[in-house]
Amino acid sequence: MRKLFNIALGLLCLCAASCAPKDPIEKKVDDLLSKMTLREKIGQMNQLSGGYSSIEAAAKGECGSILNCVDPVEINAVQKAAVEQSRLGIPVIASRDVIHGFHTVFPIPLGQAATFDPELVEKGARIAAIEATSYGIKWTFSPMLDIARDSRWGRVAEGSGEDVYLDATMGAAMVRGYQGADTQDPTSMAACIKHFVGYGAAEGGRDYNGVSIPERSLRNTYLPAFKAGVDAGALTLMTSFNENDGIPSTGNKWLLTDVLRNEWGFDGMVVTDWNSAGEMIAHGFAKDLKHSAELSLNAGVDMDMMSFGFIAHLEELVKEGKVSEKDIDRAVRNILRLKFRMGLFENPYVDEQKAGAMDYAPEHLAAAKQAALESAILLKNDENILPLTNKKTILLCGPLADNPYDQMGTWTFDGQKEHTVTPLAALQKDFNVIYEPVLASTRDLSTANLGKVRAAASRADAVVVVVGEEAIMSGEAHSMSDLRLKGAQSQLIEAARQTGKPVVAVIMAGRELTIGGDLKNCDAMLYCFHPGTMGGEALADLLTGRETPSGKLPMTMLVEAGQAPFYYNHNRGGRPCNGTETLLADIPLQAGQTSLGNTTYYLDSGYGPLFPFGYGLSYTEFEIKNVKLDKNSYGKDETVKISYDIANVGKVKGTEVAQLYVHDVVGSVARPVKELKRFARVTLEPGETKTLTFELPVAELAFYGLDMTCKVESGDFKLWVSNDSASGEPVDFEVR
Ligand code: GLC
Repeated sequence: MRKLFNIALGLLCLCAASCAPKDPIEKKVDDLLSKMTLREKIGQMNQLSGGYSSIEAAAKGECGSILNCVDPVEINAVQKAAVEQSRLGIPVIASRDVIHGFHTVFPIPLGQAATFDPELVEKGARIAAIEATSYGIKWTFSPMLDIARDSRWGRVAEGSGEDVYLDATMGAAMVRGYQGADTQDPTSMAACIKHFVGYGAAEGGRDYNGVSIPERSLRNTYLPAFKAGVDAGALTLMTSFNENDGIPSTGNKWLLTDVLRNEWGFDGMVVTDWNSAGEMIAHGFAKDLKHSAELSLNAGVDMDMMSFGFIAHLEELVKEGKVSEKDIDRAVRNILRLKFRMGLFENPYVDEQKAGAMDYAPEHLAAAKQAALESAILLKNDENILPLTNKKTILLCGPLADNPYDQMGTWTFDGQKEHTVTPLAALQKDFNVIYEPVLASTRDLSTANLGKVRAAASRADAVVVVVGEEAIMSGEAHSMSDLRLKGAQSQLIEAARQTGKPVVAVIMAGRELTIGGDLKNCDAMLYCFHPGTMGGEALADLLTGRETPSGKLPMTMLVEAGQAPFYYNHNRGGRPCNGTETLLADIPLQAGQTSLGNTTYYLDSGYGPLFPFGYGLSYTEFEIKNVKLDKNSYGKDETVKISYDIANVGKVKGTEVAQLYVHDVVGSVARPVKELKRFARVTLEPGETKTLTFELPVAELAFYGLDMTCKVESGDFKLWVSNDSASGEPVDFEVR
């Protein structure tokens, strides 16, 4: 009887499920798909670059999307061809690399990560979407979620650095910002989490180079941010150029189907990177373009960006039985679902009259300035030389002191330098400025004008040197093997030091450079990455003391490039360095053949980094103390409640980033010495103390262990609440 009842119940559920009203979008997708020819289906899977040049294909229903067109008239022309001339009138979706702002340019994403302010990052993405969608852009290829632990890789500029939690938090914030609360809203822009996966681990920091990341490291380090992006509702994902262990991501079925679809339930659309399908030939993974189309479709790719393999070969591959129309239907469903979700069928056209209506709106500029303020990291401030109060005249020098173009940073196709506020333009409102660029560019090796520094400094109360990288020196394909300042920029800082006046060095770069050699030649250093449109005004507020720096390093800052990859959340290893080992300078001549320190360090560049992940000073000082747990033993379904006191023990108001790190002392596999699990920006008046808490569910201590299942392992743990990854005292607790 019981068995019969269960069968009946099962049948009832089955019927209910099949009778349940389908998600209206799924029904529309089914209806439309059922009308499409094979050629029309394949046409949707083809993304083309450019506007007018794509009209013919769009009219034939052979272009599902365009990129690199931002003219609303041109976009509408392509859309008109697709909607009014193609047989089924399926709209195209226009896309663009809107990476850190559209017209109003925000700090590069690595700079935004340094704010440790996800709400602000979300706001910046929302502003970018408002500006870009007014031109007809409905899809951005952002956020980049690649964990990056090697500043030689130029694309560190586009991500959130080395830490899993920071990367996931900032990536999810951008997804929410771009897409907004309602993807049918005209200002919603589909996000694209990229580059899936492991691209930032390129061997040697050389872009496009292969990576070797075993599955456990993928799952514990490189995949979590993408899972966070999927959970945040990202509507699209982009495959990465690189291969991992010999398998290019664009042809990796385990990655694109088993993990992304079957494990995570991702129902968005997967696009390749630019010709990354075709590049599988160069990888030696595909025989030819036809073979690359077969491999990428069968792996789980939906749309092909600019290899033309799908449009050229999928029909014959179906005839040959090498790909199935069922798989093509899968891809087209994902594409149509995206377009329905974005409201393109109801509203395919952009209102050309309203294009740019919100560009550089005061609230946009204010947000960009706030991001530039919060992204600035104070690395040094001897004798509290900053802020430059009671300094009337400053000598402002350096190739980036008045460089509106490079200040915007990498991937700013649509940034308009005419709107950039440079340090020179801003500082002239607060100081009597003597301006001497001295170098023609960041790569200018000439020292002929260094003498001008001494002459000009005699008339100044302080010297501000703005140096760093041109925008082109970071970003895609721009790897560097030497991370020191280029040209004669270090000599310029030295010349400033020789004037005997207080020297403030300001670095604008797309990565963390090795500036250790420059530190001794300045009294203070502000690291601003490329701060975007409002960088000059933010700098003026910081130098005058109207604002106080609060940025924190999103990557470990190296002494030498040769230390890379170097990151705080490393495994301990069997011979951790204790910081007392013999250094090169201490080794006697004809030294005996001992192995010296017997631990992991560098004879020449020493025991650790220049500055740790999470480091950044303020004009005031903070103390974090009385870190207490609500108990010291937890079940796996409980939550660790951590209270701590944070005090502003200095003389001015400031904001600290309290950081919670955890270490799993013994695991079924070795675990990182520390992992960031929470952070909070805390603003305090001088003398003010707050008692705050973090709550950390024990479940968030789960990881993929020896048996490759994701679970929390019982045992001893340590935790820190501190103001960077290298400070603070541990508190012990156990998980039962
Ligand atoms: C580039 C980049 C990718 C970008 C795409 C479209 O090669 O790797 O990040 O979104 O092409 O421009």
